[in-house]
Amino acid sequence: MEIFLDTANVDEIREAVEWGVVSGVTTNPTLVAKEGRNFHQVLKEICNLVRGPVSAEVLSLEAEGMLQEARELARLDPNIVIKIPVIPGGMKAVRALAREGIRANVTLVFSAPQALLAARAGAAFVSPFIGRMDDIGQEGTAVLEDIIKIFRNYQYPTKVIAASIRHPRHVLEAARLGAAIATVPFAVLAQMFKHPLTDLGIARFQADWEKAKGI
Ligand code: E4P
Repeated sequence: MEIFLDTANVDEIREAVEWGVVSGVTTNPTLVAKEGRNFHQVLKEICNLVRGPVSAEVLSLEAEGMLQEARELARLDPNIVIKIPVIPGGMKAVRALAREGIRANVTLVFSAPQALLAARAGAAFVSPFIGRMDDIGQEGTAVLEDIIKIFRNYQYPTKVIAASIRHPRHVLEAARLGAAIATVPFAVLAQMFKHPLTDLGIARFQADWEKAKGI
């Protein structure tokens, strides 16, 4: 499973790329607004840091407006993927963009039928938000499992991105279910390193080496 970073913070991206574990980035309007910087400038910097898909979201709610925004964003870098919400106008835009060779990531997906529509429209990626489903008592991973199964049944090329990841267990579940990608916040990525026995083991090796050094 590939790991994308779910952030618009270039320092976090730089660090995670240096760890060698990140192959793409997803952003959304909330994450970009948090940075308080020019959207296009941030996207260009991200594309210079990571050699993989970088999702940037459109804000229009009509197909025409979405297409205009999408074409402008796609001109920034060949790795830009257009994030589009799963609404009727959005699917119209996804279809038109696919014909132009511009990839779309259909976002705000909370059900398997929504994901099916995205695949039918020609989305390159679909992003079920598993954490937000868990937040309201829906089982996010059950929806993820259905989507993966349906895409396999019909061999849709659309890649499933497990999104709205809250903790390393979500990453584990996404990998067990066979998601192509999990997009994770930096804090969760950092948590994935953590195990008390790793810390204990390092401390013990260091202490033992200190004792043996003088021999
Ligand atoms: C996906 O691409 C979204 O940016 C993201 O995962 C949203 O997650 P949230 O529920 O943490 O806002």
